[in-house]
Amino acid sequence: MCGIIGYIGNDSATDIVVDGLKKLEYRGYDSAGVGVIEDGKLRVIKKKGRVKNTEEAIPKTLKSTIGIGHTRWATHGAPSDKNSHPHISQNIAVVHNGIIENYACLKKELESEGVVFTSETDTEVIPHLINKIISNSMSDTDNIKCEIFYFHSILKAIRKLSGSYALAILNTDFPDLIVCVKRGSPLVVSKSNTASFIASDVGVASKHGGEIFILDDDELALIKKGEVNFFDTRGREKKKNSIVYEKEENSDELGNNAHHMLKEIKEIPSAIHETVIGVKKCFFNLEKNKLKKIKKIVLVGCGTAYHAGLSAKTVLEKFTKIPSYVEVASEFRYSNPLIGKETLVVLISQSGETADTLAALELAKKKRALTLAVVNNTTSAIALGADSRIITRAKKEIAVASTKAYNSQLVALYSFALYLADIKQTMPQDQINALKEMLLNLPKAAREVIESGLDKINSDIIKIFKDEKAIMFLGRGIDYATASEASLKLKEITYIHCSAYPAGELKHGTIALIENNYLVVAYLTDSTLKDKTLNALYEVKARGAKVFAITNQDLPKDAYDYIYEVPRLGILSPIASIIPMQIISYLTAVAKEIDPDKPRNLAKSVTVE
Ligand code: F6R
Repeated sequence: MCGIIGYIGNDSATDIVVDGLKKLEYRGYDSAGVGVIEDGKLRVIKKKGRVKNTEEAIPKTLKSTIGIGHTRWATHGAPSDKNSHPHISQNIAVVHNGIIENYACLKKELESEGVVFTSETDTEVIPHLINKIISNSMSDTDNIKCEIFYFHSILKAIRKLSGSYALAILNTDFPDLIVCVKRGSPLVVSKSNTASFIASDVGVASKHGGEIFILDDDELALIKKGEVNFFDTRGREKKKNSIVYEKEENSDELGNNAHHMLKEIKEIPSAIHETVIGVKKCFFNLEKNKLKKIKKIVLVGCGTAYHAGLSAKTVLEKFTKIPSYVEVASEFRYSNPLIGKETLVVLISQSGETADTLAALELAKKKRALTLAVVNNTTSAIALGADSRIITRAKKEIAVASTKAYNSQLVALYSFALYLADIKQTMPQDQINALKEMLLNLPKAAREVIESGLDKINSDIIKIFKDEKAIMFLGRGIDYATASEASLKLKEITYIHCSAYPAGELKHGTIALIENNYLVVAYLTDSTLKDKTLNALYEVKARGAKVFAITNQDLPKDAYDYIYEVPRLGILSPIASIIPMQIISYLTAVAKEIDPDKPRNLAKSVTVE
């Protein structure tokens, strides 16, 4: 959610900042902006819409070697040129990711002192506040160009802010300095001998080589060309170690694919393979003795990650006999959950940055629960903050709608359930071995589903979905979890109203929606619940619904209108059965001329509440 870039070196700051913004555009694409210092003067170019709008507005003659940039996901104030970042106060420019929760009160105070605001954002209070603190605390003997005085003014300003922020601050009085500070939102700094670079994600920061540093909360960095110094918010210098980061090759390249989402669907088999192999290494680091004592499991995540938890709950209970619960992170964090030392809280997150999931982790730690992160980003706050971690090796996901990360989360969580069943001896060994063998064969099954899907999901199938105004998804047990994820996938990139229900809930209200030709997508892969789900299909068909069944069971012909067959993989079926709806969602978005990689109002990484 919002991307921040900064650069100081010998090359063109605008080129490097714009290039970085394009790579961070997945974090928000409501507007973008660049601020540089040219011949001692601040130059700010910012435009509503995609980064390319800002890029096109930058004069070719602009020369600068220091700059900051921002790609925005709007929170306070509509997407517009004036609400875009950087926000300025005289000689100071600020880019911000996060939310300043007390901005209204700060704004009122500043306005009463004569400050005129030009935007509707929360961010604009920050540069004005810094300037006000500088002018109010400067005595006749103070030098406005003194770095220490400036630094302490920023510290004073930061102490007045509540909420979350990652900030990069530029000031024409210090034309070789960018100041960064963060609380709750991610920020990474890299430095080589000749340049320094700031980014919201480690992958982008690493592109420029050199040492990489991940800022902690309440940490400040003074960044110059090839030099970075770290401080706490009381102004004390801190020693900080750089991290080791394995660069991912070509993750930004589309290859022959029209969109990242399509590329990422095609990468599902390798994501599953890498995850199945990689989790074994993660299990070595788990604390077996503590896990053996676990009496309750709570799975926490948002959106797709929550659905992975929903699916894993069934598997965990079946394999380990430990009562397992699933919670949406934004509910969990305010629910005063009944958890303690004998509870395992599993935090599921692709980005490892999601604000609500991060807050859920903090709460679980406070309540002394054992915490396990299931994350795709090894250097993220959730990965680093949990007691232990299982890494989903899906590699970077760029399309806003999650695909390969979801399949990998299922693989990681199901594998963990088997591991737990093994150490707690809650399942016969031969069954555990057979399932481990099946997991190893999953990439092949997934590849076949993808290849046949891309072949047979043609315009006739897309026609079934494309012009619908509302679609209902049904399933029971683990199929309800898959139906929920399928429903989210389709709605977020096609803007069709989709909702998922447990098939048995229909009669308790939802069936009132059914009328002639209403489209119902039914998931049916659990043979033990087949007859029960079939009842629901007959009930909606009796009221005129069209049923699109996604199944690996033999169904009576009168129970459906369309049938899409998926492989029989027993309890592992969801890992493959979600794929047709991932493909259908993608192709429906394309048919509706919606950019599936950047659907409206969304951002890939949700770092605000
Ligand atoms: C939907 C989607 C979101 C994310 C959710 C959590 O396709 O991608 O629902 O799953 O925002 O994100 P992470 O997994 O990064 O915590």
